[in-house]
Amino acid sequence: MRIVSGVQPTGRLHLGNYLGAIRQFLDLQSAPAHDCFFFVADLHALTTIRDGATLRSLTLEIATDYLALGLDPDRVAIYRQSSLPQVTELAWMLSTVTPMGLLRRGHSYKDKIARGLEPTHGLFAYPVLMAADILIVGAERVPVGRDQAQHLEMTRDLATAFNQVHDEPLLRLPEPMILPDAALVPGIDGRKMSKSHGNVIELFAPEADLRRSVMSIVTDSTPLEDPKSARGPLYALLKLLTPPEEWAESRRLFTTGGQGYGALKTRLLGLVLDTFRPARQRREELLRDVGFVESVLNAGSERAATAAAPLMAECRRACGLAG
Ligand code: TYM
Repeated sequence: MRIVSGVQPTGRLHLGNYLGAIRQFLDLQSAPAHDCFFFVADLHALTTIRDGATLRSLTLEIATDYLALGLDPDRVAIYRQSSLPQVTELAWMLSTVTPMGLLRRGHSYKDKIARGLEPTHGLFAYPVLMAADILIVGAERVPVGRDQAQHLEMTRDLATAFNQVHDEPLLRLPEPMILPDAALVPGIDGRKMSKSHGNVIELFAPEADLRRSVMSIVTDSTPLEDPKSARGPLYALLKLLTPPEEWAESRRLFTTGGQGYGALKTRLLGLVLDTFRPARQRREELLRDVGFVESVLNAGSERAATAAAPLMAECRRACGLAG
């Protein structure tokens, strides 16, 4: 089964990215029948990052983090979105069948404009580019968090429109893979964890910063001796990171009282550090070997280009473009 997904290099990776998406990438790469493509969405990030040096360095950092977290370049293709020119080419073809109304309904566009971003064409057409990422490799499944569900629906709509216009089943309709438990990981203020909300717990922040983020998780004023509410972000994050066999004990601490929120936060901090300790070590080594990360990206681009070429040729033929 063919699988594709990507992360925008608009900041550093956080628990939402890991629990909603990257943890799925790691599970999926283990099945031999899966043919996985995981990229760094630098073209998408161009809609918000205007400085070349910053984008270049964040892109390399996300690729490094993919490897540190355990993505295996022998099993999956890891590449920069911008290394695959077929993506922008297909995006243009798709844009010619994209109804304006469909893009106007985009939640992500509306949210970004509401946050004060300049309403550029790139921001408006973002879902078309994302559809091209997915469709160009003929992906059947797309592991993502729930915030990407509308983009996946749009991808299916655009593929259907393109196939209808050309009267051929050229583009395969993909399905999202969304983990019910980690569909929308909350940030430290209880809203969706997101770089743009400034409420993230970064995976690779220095320990002191991590401690600060975890200790700032909002809680209510339940006294120490009383049972704690299971509704806030602290409970949700603990549940997501606690190994299943230890959950009964953590849950008990929450529901029986006698444990302050501070102690529960310390428990969460310990879990974050334990979960990512091996990845932190690998990351330190990879940061010293940028040449290796670049070579992985180059090899990944070649694999992605090989996957994209036949479909691109078919689309060009169907559209009547130069062959
Ligand atoms: P991005 O970079 O915002 O996030 C990367 C992945 O992390 C997931 N995610 C979350 N999941 C659960 N809870 C959260 N709080 C949370 N925050 C982020 C996202 O759902 C995503 O899976 N448009 C995409 C990048 C992209 C893409 C693609 C993804 C571009 N082309 C093609 C899949 C296929 C984005 O902005 O993700």
